[in-house]
Parts: sequence; C-alpha cells; structure tokens
Amino acid sequence: MMGGHIKMGRQEVGRFLEQYQGPNLRLVALALANNYPMFRKTLRMRFEEFGMMWSQRFEHELQVYFGEDGSAIGRAIDGYCRFSLEAMRLQATFNETLKYTAESHKDAVEETYSNDGYMVGTYLPALLLSHFLWPHHFRQLNWAPEHFFSRLRNVEAQTFYDIGIGTGFYSKEALIALPEIRGWGFDISAASIEHTSQLLARWDVADRYEILAHEVRPILDGGVDAFISVELLEHLDDPLSFLMALRESVGPNALGLISAAIDAPNRDHVYLYRDMDGISQQLATAGFQVLDSELFSAYEKSNADETVPQSGCFVVCSAR
Ligand SMILES: C[S@@+](CC[C@H](N)C(=O)[O-])C[C@H]1O[C@@H](n2cnc3c(N)ncnc32)[C@H](O)[C@@H]1O
Repeated sequence: MMGGHIKMGRQEVGRFLEQYQGPNLRLVALALANNYPMFRKTLRMRFEEFGMMWSQRFEHELQVYFGEDGSAIGRAIDGYCRFSLEAMRLQATFNETLKYTAESHKDAVEETYSNDGYMVGTYLPALLLSHFLWPHHFRQLNWAPEHFFSRLRNVEAQTFYDIGIGTGFYSKEALIALPEIRGWGFDISAASIEHTSQLLARWDVADRYEILAHEVRPILDGGVDAFISVELLEHLDDPLSFLMALRESVGPNALGLISAAIDAPNRDHVYLYRDMDGISQQLATAGFQVLDSELFSAYEKSNADETVPQSGCFVVCSAR
C-alpha cells in the first residue's frame, strides 16, 4: 500500500532530516548535500510525499545492496545525479522537438548496453536508486504487489520470465513476493547481467533464478505462468514485433506486468510512446488482454504544452 500524500509539519520533517532514518540514508543525504546541492532536497521531498514507509523501505534496500559502504553509495549517487541531469537536459530538448534523439536500437546497444563503464558507473546505479528517488518509479513499485503479484499468488504461479532485467530489481521483487516461484531473466547487456546476479545474491534469492544472455525466446515447454518487462519497449525499434515474439514465448494464459516510458527521453530510448493508447493498442494486436493499467507521472505539468516523463504500466493476460 502506498503511504499516500502525507502532509508533515515542519518539526516532523526537521526531525527526519536530523535522523535520516538510518545509516545508509544518511550517507545518501551526505553525498547529495556535499556534491549535488541541486538535488539536496530530493530526500525531504520524497519523505514528505510518501512518509515513513518510503524511508524505511529505502534504508532496507540500501542496507542489503550497499551495507553502509559509504564510497559505494557515493559512486552510486554520482551516477544517479549524472543520469538525472542528462534526463533533464534531454527533456528540455524534447519539449521543443517531440522526438527522441537515439536513432536505433543498434546505436543504443553500441553506446549504452555494451558500454560497461557507463552501465556500471551511471546507468545501473541510477536505475536502482530511481525506484526510490523518482516519484513515478516509486508509485509503480508500490502498485505492482497489489495489482500484479497478488494475481500471481491467486493462480499459484510457479514460473516467470523477466525481459530486459536491467538492475534485476523487478525480478528480485517477484522472487521475494512469491517464495515458490522460479524465474528466467533475459538481457543483452553483460553489465546488466552482472548487476542482476549481484542484486539477487545479496537478497538471497539467486538460487531460484537463471539468466540468459539473449532476447526472449521460448525456453520452457508449454510456456510460463507469468512474465515481466519493465521499461524495455521504448528501447526497441519495433516493440510490436517484440510483443508478438513474447506472446509466442510465454504461451496461453500467462499473466504479465509490462511497462513503458511515455514522453521520457533518454540516450537509449528509441520508440516514442505519447500516451497509454499507443501501448495498449500494441498489446492488443500482439494478443494480450489488458486486465489493469495505471499511468504514473514524474511531476505535474506547469503548463499545457510542457511534456512530463511518465510510465504506463499494464497487467495483461496472454489470450488462448
Ligand atoms: C531500462 S532497463 C530495464 C529496467 C529493469 N527492468 C529494472 O527494473 O531495472 C533496459 C534493459 O533492457 C536491456 N535490453 C535492451 N534491448 C534488449 C533486448 N532486445 N532484449 C533483452 N534486453 C534488452 C538493456 O540491456 C537494459 O538492461
């Protein structure tokens, strides 16, 4: 459940700022305050919006992955801030052009996914922290258990695929939410595969998971019970062809969580979705029935012409 919008008194917020609710969060606060004054209010803003459940969850996430290693947290914050600043610059250009700058998936593979230095130093730590520091990512993270994992529990799902594992974050969430489930993750980036292995090992769920270094294709006879693909579609030249291949791989009656970025430029975003309909039409054409959906926005528009990064999230079922 989301903490909702909790209005806090000045004193209460002040107390949080003094304590930072844990040693890892304090290290994040320190790294932001010392090196990135522009982002120094981020923690307070997230805490005001989401409350204690946000800070406790974030502290736990940081403890498991970083274990109070101040220099690792400092490097991750550097990556997050570089990534966020680039995203802000790209958004300003996108406001004028309404076009993504990345030309093709091939370019994204060469410049981003195969670029280990950038993946390890910037992309992957930024994505990991964004699940807590970007409000639309945190809202989506809280939407998934109630709207997707609960359905998997009801049908006693035993197997899932995750395509475009990135940090491994959503695979980890599924493996923790469903202690009996086994997963197979697909990704084409060596750095993402390494990050996912590490994340799952630190959360002690790696023994129920295998990673495959290629695009999705059928590996289990009869398909799988469930699948996840969070923020992959916008990275592809032809997401509809990918969705059709995915539909073939998972088989009938599989439940899926699929999200895609809308109006959200990034150096590796190729396919532009402008609204939820653009995604849901492709899902229907590929043979998926939409069971539930939600649009998450990074912030409110300040005027009608402004574009705002969003995430469109869908729970789907593969038709017979
Ligand atoms: C934005 S990240 C996904 C975020 C991830 N789901 C998470 O929660 O951290 C995109 C990922 O898709 C991977 N990717 C890009 N093209 C792919 C493809 N054709 N097949 C599989 N993975 C791909 C990239 O290597 C990258 O790790």
